[in-house]
Amino acid sequence: MYDFKNSIDRRKTNSLKWDVGDNELPMWVADMDFKTAPEIVEAIHKKADQSIFGYEEPSEDYFNAVANWYEKEHDSRPDTDWMLFVTGVVPAISSIVRRVTSVGDNVLVQAPVYNIFYNSILNNGRHVISNDLAFDGVKYQIDFNDLEEKLSDPLTTLMILCNPHNPIGKVWSREELTKIARLCKKYHVKLLSDEIHGDITFDPYTPAFSLDKELIQNLMVCVSPSKTFNVAAIHAATIIIPNENLRNIVDRGINSEELAEPNSFAMPVSIAAYEKGHAWLAELKQQILDNKQLVQDFLESELPDVKLISSDATYLLWLDTSKISDDSKKLASFIRAKTGLYLSSGDVYGGDGYDFLRMNIACPIETVKDGLKRLKQGIEMYR
Ligand SMILES: Cc1ncc(COP(=O)(O)O)c(C=O)c1O
Repeated sequence: MYDFKNSIDRRKTNSLKWDVGDNELPMWVADMDFKTAPEIVEAIHKKADQSIFGYEEPSEDYFNAVANWYEKEHDSRPDTDWMLFVTGVVPAISSIVRRVTSVGDNVLVQAPVYNIFYNSILNNGRHVISNDLAFDGVKYQIDFNDLEEKLSDPLTTLMILCNPHNPIGKVWSREELTKIARLCKKYHVKLLSDEIHGDITFDPYTPAFSLDKELIQNLMVCVSPSKTFNVAAIHAATIIIPNENLRNIVDRGINSEELAEPNSFAMPVSIAAYEKGHAWLAELKQQILDNKQLVQDFLESELPDVKLISSDATYLLWLDTSKISDDSKKLASFIRAKTGLYLSSGDVYGGDGYDFLRMNIACPIETVKDGLKRLKQGIEMYR
């Protein structure tokens, strides 16, 4: 039994999430209020006790731990030869954009999507092209005709896929992934699949590297223990690239940009997480399901005009607030100013995000109750 009931006070500890006013309740950035697994903390203590923090390189044990984790958790074992260590998923994405595309190219995303993808594309002088996800009022789907049209544009050279998808919380099925990979192959578009949320899934998740061999030759997959175990500031991630030529190109990029060297804690934390974190993750997932059920029940009985979009992954809830406002930025700032509840405004994710708020429920259930109370107050006052 691990502790998912208590959280520690992170105000004034340089926490990005908790750098807020005294009465404010942050439920925005994807960072959990649960302590990480004690097995990981033990590995950190052991490393600290060694008292030497010299240069390091990724170890064979690390790559084996990643492969074993995917085999045990997700029934699919990536070859360790396919892997590159990198200091984060966002640094990897930006580096890949620079290495495998040219200035002025189109990089395709599926809005609404993780807002930092836009930074990685635009800050490097590439254009964003979006295959907006189609929302029917209940669920999202991929418009494959639109996707094909946009991939067939000769200026489109890279697609960034988010699986599971942040912020809508959807796990793409093997059939959907196969269709996407086929289209990318047909139009010679490289496919970068960000699977950082792949472990917190409630429906089977298919790592893209497990697709048919002929569909993974232009594929790059990014994974990390950072979301799963709440260790984002450890800065450890893996890029999995089955094709040797493409892997060498990306490897040169991350090395010349100095993104390939682990800090002192990256190896012990990742290895402990991947080798000893299975039971902790199982309990975390149960807690997230309980929290989500609470939100669902509360909204149905107390706030029926706010709809929770059904999801099968992540601790990020996508709340449809279109009946309240079509300006989520204004709504989110109003709720924060009046009640202290700090949610992510959906507009930053592009697409139809102006109709949504994103709520992070990776916190003790008492905190979720507090957040819901504030949400109700804020929405009533807004009206
Ligand atoms: C889809 C997605 N990719 C990447 C990241 C961040 O990755 P990293 O901290 O490894 O740069 C996040 C964080 O929320 C995310 O949601």
